[in-house]
Amino acid sequence: MCGIVGYVGHRQALDVVLGGLRRLEYRGYDSAGVAVLDGAGALRVQRKAGRLANLEAQLDADGRQTFAGTAGMGHTRWATHGPPVDRNSHPHRDASNTVAVVHNGIIENFAELRTELEAEGVELASDTDTETTAHLIAAAYATGETAGDLPASVRAVCRRLEGAFTLVVTHAGVPDQIVAARRSSPLVIGVGDGEHFVASDVAAFIEHTREAVELGQDQVVVISRDGYEVTDFAGEPAQAKPFTVDWDLSAAEKGGHDYFMLKEIEEQPDALANTLRGHFHNGRITLDEQRLADQDLRDIDKVFVVACGSAYHSGLVAKYAIEHWCRLPVEVELASEFRYRDPVLDRDTLVVAVSQSGETMDTLEAVRHAREQKARVLAVCNTNGAQIPRESDAVLYTHAGPEIGVASTKAFLAQIAANYLVGLALAQARGTKYPDEVAREFAELANTPAAVQKTLATSEQVRALGREIADSKAVLFLGRHVGFPVALEGALKLKELAYMHAEGFAAGELKHGPIALIEQDLPVVIVMPSPKGRAVLHSKLVSNISEIQARGARTIVIAEEGDDAVRPYADSLIEIPATSTLLQPLVATVPLQILAAEIARSRGYDIDKPRNLAKSVTVE
Ligand code: AGP
Ligand code: GLU
Repeated sequence: MCGIVGYVGHRQALDVVLGGLRRLEYRGYDSAGVAVLDGAGALRVQRKAGRLANLEAQLDADGRQTFAGTAGMGHTRWATHGPPVDRNSHPHRDASNTVAVVHNGIIENFAELRTELEAEGVELASDTDTETTAHLIAAAYATGETAGDLPASVRAVCRRLEGAFTLVVTHAGVPDQIVAARRSSPLVIGVGDGEHFVASDVAAFIEHTREAVELGQDQVVVISRDGYEVTDFAGEPAQAKPFTVDWDLSAAEKGGHDYFMLKEIEEQPDALANTLRGHFHNGRITLDEQRLADQDLRDIDKVFVVACGSAYHSGLVAKYAIEHWCRLPVEVELASEFRYRDPVLDRDTLVVAVSQSGETMDTLEAVRHAREQKARVLAVCNTNGAQIPRESDAVLYTHAGPEIGVASTKAFLAQIAANYLVGLALAQARGTKYPDEVAREFAELANTPAAVQKTLATSEQVRALGREIADSKAVLFLGRHVGFPVALEGALKLKELAYMHAEGFAAGELKHGPIALIEQDLPVVIVMPSPKGRAVLHSKLVSNISEIQARGARTIVIAEEGDDAVRPYADSLIEIPATSTLLQPLVATVPLQILAAEIARSRGYDIDKPRNLAKSVTVE
């Protein structure tokens, strides 16, 4: 999820690696580190929590000349396992300080690997999933059929790993090689003249070379000064895809997009997959740091979800799921209102605090109030080690990776997925869903990254529509059931990106006033429920659409592919993949994000940094 740079060549590796990490700073991170091979069999490592400047200051204090060498690697971390402190920063090493590893992603089976290593007497020095790989690779290199062969040792360990990972590995005894491997996490090779690079994205090395090679799934690359060699995890030669980077540095940081938000919209399938990864094990849902026993969850007789903005909308979606799966009353509260209305809380109340940044003061104060009232607090957070998770009883981290765009996109979808996991964990603990039902729900959830990927294919149609309605004076958004929070989120995106009046309504509420707003050509976006779900909802929403079309509105309908009943009422129809009723927000939200971004761009606004907004509101 964060930044990786590796180098073998004719220059001082430390300079090249630090320069690459600076190019990757934009990705957001919480700690950084480097390793350099000095060529005489020594491995020099330094790592620090916090900004890159902390690492650079430490290197100055150590004496940079002690990091001389022409092979090395670096890492900026976005913590998933273990808080962002020095000991958890990468590179991680084996006990003999001969192997160093940096890693992006999540090793899903790290707990089993840690247990295995500890049983062999290995003392792990960090809380991370990554450190296990350093010990395993050192052992594979030291003995057995891969002894003395670093690429083979790395491949042997990769074959044991589950999850998503980009690994870059150095060995003190192999000073002229760096080995890297990837599964479901990006890695590119930079091909220079007498020098080669590996990196999580081309921004790290395009100042040195624009000739790149994209590594494929389950592939390993060995880079040396004069070349690179790609194999699969079995060691068979493999083809990787060469390309020339024709982006400038700014575009490279955004994956070729003009804005981080556009890149992050496209990262949503991975954000969902990474958030779900590792939370269903041996037929059971597991939360991250579940300091709430099943009995605690069984004692819960009421749930509050407290959050702000998009996180609040993710809570509104969660309400439908948790009430349906767990038969528990769920109140969803704006954090800024929560503690001032003197809510009724006690130790059998579960408060779910949803926050991407984990620093939102309104939500943090709500957590503190809940704790004072003896309620149990579970944080859903995208930032490991942030204040809200630190002050909560339990934590479920979303793994959307750093979200640079101020408007929430991938973090929002990850929050919805995480909230569903909380609902399934509650249903599992309380027995309101049998294990096979929980498994079925999780399997459906696990299919949503593919559904979101498919939804992204409608992007061009949605962008064209955005340009058509960019000059409208307002846009209304309607939805029913879980489509209602989606309508609210669509309106929020349009407000915060295009500075346009936009409002989301429960469609059933239209006739109680808002229908007075309907006028000729007013764009109205309708989020249609599945016709196979609650048929009554579908038919009522079709009636709502005909009412507003009869009054001249321009109807923009988001509907499940094949929903022919709605076609006559849609001036524009955007089709999304079919999902089960409760999971539809994960796909229906995507076109609304794209619509808002395109309208904002048509109006000439910077969609990464909307006026008046901050990424994390740390004041009440
Ligand atoms: C969403 O697009 C906004 N940027 C904003 O509403 C955000 O969701 C809200 O401020 C909550 O932030 P948090 O998730 O970091 O707590
Ligand atoms: N899972 C690893 C950790 O928590 C790597 C996180 C990352 O991708 O930066 O250290």
